[in-house]
Amino acid sequence: MSNQLDYTRIPPLPASVYVAPLKKPAGLGDDWLEPVQRSYTAEEHRIWDDLYERQMKLMPGHACREFMHGLDRLDLHRGGVPDFNQVSEELRSLTGWTVVPVPMLIPDHVFYYHLANRRFPAGNFIRTREQFDYIQEPDVFHDVFGHVPLLTDPVFAEYMEAYGRAGWKALRYNRLKALSALYWYTVEFGLILEEGGMRIYGAGILSGPTETVFSIEGGSPNRIHLNVDRVMRTDYTISDLQATYFVIESFRELFHMTEQRGFEPIYESLAPAFQYAKTAALDTDHIYHRGTQEYELRGGRGSGARPV
Ligand code: CO
Repeated sequence: MSNQLDYTRIPPLPASVYVAPLKKPAGLGDDWLEPVQRSYTAEEHRIWDDLYERQMKLMPGHACREFMHGLDRLDLHRGGVPDFNQVSEELRSLTGWTVVPVPMLIPDHVFYYHLANRRFPAGNFIRTREQFDYIQEPDVFHDVFGHVPLLTDPVFAEYMEAYGRAGWKALRYNRLKALSALYWYTVEFGLILEEGGMRIYGAGILSGPTETVFSIEGGSPNRIHLNVDRVMRTDYTISDLQATYFVIESFRELFHMTEQRGFEPIYESLAPAFQYAKTAALDTDHIYHRGTQEYELRGGRGSGARPV
C-alpha cells in the first residue's frame, strides 16, 4: 500500500467503516459546503449579540490566554453574526485557516478533509431564543465564537490540521470513535494549565456559561493530565456536562503528544468498545483534581441536578 496520501481530496470511505446516516440537503456537493453564508434576520443577529455579551462576562479568568488573544485579533463583535468572508480574510493572513459554511453536522471523513486543508466548517444557522441556554447541534455561535479564536494561534492551528490528516489513518484502521474521543477531550472540552491556574480552551465549554464555570470551579468533575492512549479509550458525554476534563500544559505539548505518536500502536491494541467509563480516575492517571462526581451521581441535567 502506498503511504502517499492525498489530503487535497475527500478520503475514500472503507465499506467497513460505520458512518451516521446524515441526510445531505439537495444541491450540495460531496464536500457538503454551502455556496454562501445565509443571511440572518435582525432577531437572529440580536441572538448572536446577546450570546456574545453573556459569554464575554465569563471569559476573563476562565478562557485561556490564546483564546482571549484570538478574540482581540478577530473582531467578532461588530454587531450580529460575523461575516465568514471577513473573518476568513483575517484568519487566512494569520494562520492560513478559513471558515466555510455547512448546513449541519457533516460526516467525519468530510470533516477531516476540510480540517486537513485548514478550512473550518461552521454551522450556517443560529439557535433560537428557546435554545438560548443549550443546543446539541453546533450552531454558528458555537462554531465561530467557540472554535475560531484559537485558530489564530499558530501551534493550535497546526494541531487542528494534523488532526484532520490523522483522519485518513483512523479510516483505514476503522478507529473513528477513538479519534473522535481525542477531539472531544481536546478541541471541544480541553483545559490548559497556565501560570494563573486552570483555564479553558475547549470550544464546547467556551460557548456556554454553565460549563465555563463548572469545568474550572466545580467539585464534581475529574481534572486529569491528558494522555492520548488513555483518552482514546475513554467514553464521553454528548448531551450533558463532562464528568472528566483532560488538561494540557501547552499547545506545543498537545501537538507533540499527538503528531509524533503515529497512533498505529494505539489503534492496533484498542478494544472495540471504550475501555474506561467517563467518570473513571485510574491509578496511572496524573490527577489534578479527583472529582466528587456529585453532579453525575445526582443524575445530571435530566434530573435537574445542580452543576456543582
Ligand atoms: Co465544536
